[in-house]
Amino acid sequence: MKVVAFNGSPRKNGNTAILIRYAFRELTNEGIDTELVQLAGKRVRGCTACMKCFENRDRRCVIENDVANSCIEKMIAADGIILGSPVYFTDVTAEMKALIDRAGFVSMANGGLFRRKVGAAAIALRRAGAMHTADTLLHFMLAGDMILTGFPGIGVGSAIGDVEQDREGVERMMVIGKNMAWLLKAVEQAQRSG
Ligand SMILES: Cc1cc2nc3c(=O)[nH]c(=O)nc-3n(C[C@H](O)[C@H](O)[C@H](O)COP(=O)(O)O)c2cc1C
Repeated sequence: MKVVAFNGSPRKNGNTAILIRYAFRELTNEGIDTELVQLAGKRVRGCTACMKCFENRDRRCVIENDVANSCIEKMIAADGIILGSPVYFTDVTAEMKALIDRAGFVSMANGGLFRRKVGAAAIALRRAGAMHTADTLLHFMLAGDMILTGFPGIGVGSAIGDVEQDREGVERMMVIGKNMAWLLKAVEQAQRSG
């Protein structure tokens, strides 16, 4: 089993990545593979509303000159998906929103590619906007009929590493990791017994 996480921060290995890795630690302890995709420095543009994904239905976006299709492939292959973003003006980053729109539309065009995958969200912020950002991330998962681990992980901090001081935020990410492992195993068992 595998969980792939996407960090929408333009700051590589920043607070959002730190939070995600706390969940990864728990998943690894439970024998689940993990992969972190950091959007920092990578090209990902928003949806152009060309509707070609609904014509082609080939599990891809027609825009091939950025990382969206490789991210979509990783999402399809994974059993669990974590979306992480810092709060930018009380919402997700532009990079994360672009990925949500592209992957979400390709999924819809192909009958729901992420249905029954286990999903969780991680958010880093300095002060305000956590719940609005959480809504944006969770709506992607709810619209895709994913199974959620519970309340999102929220870590408070500004400079890289600050979130380590937010013990409640860190502990929440560890609970998310444990819940995700439990759910992944439950889903696998349910699938095996039909
Ligand atoms: C352009 C920009 C907008 C931001 N907007 C907010 C905001 O609305 N609310 C907030 O609490 N923090 C805001 N922040 C602070 C970041 O969310 C915070 O520094 C976070 O820890 C960064 O996570 P990262 O290290 O993963 O990038 C903003 C930062 C930037 C650069």
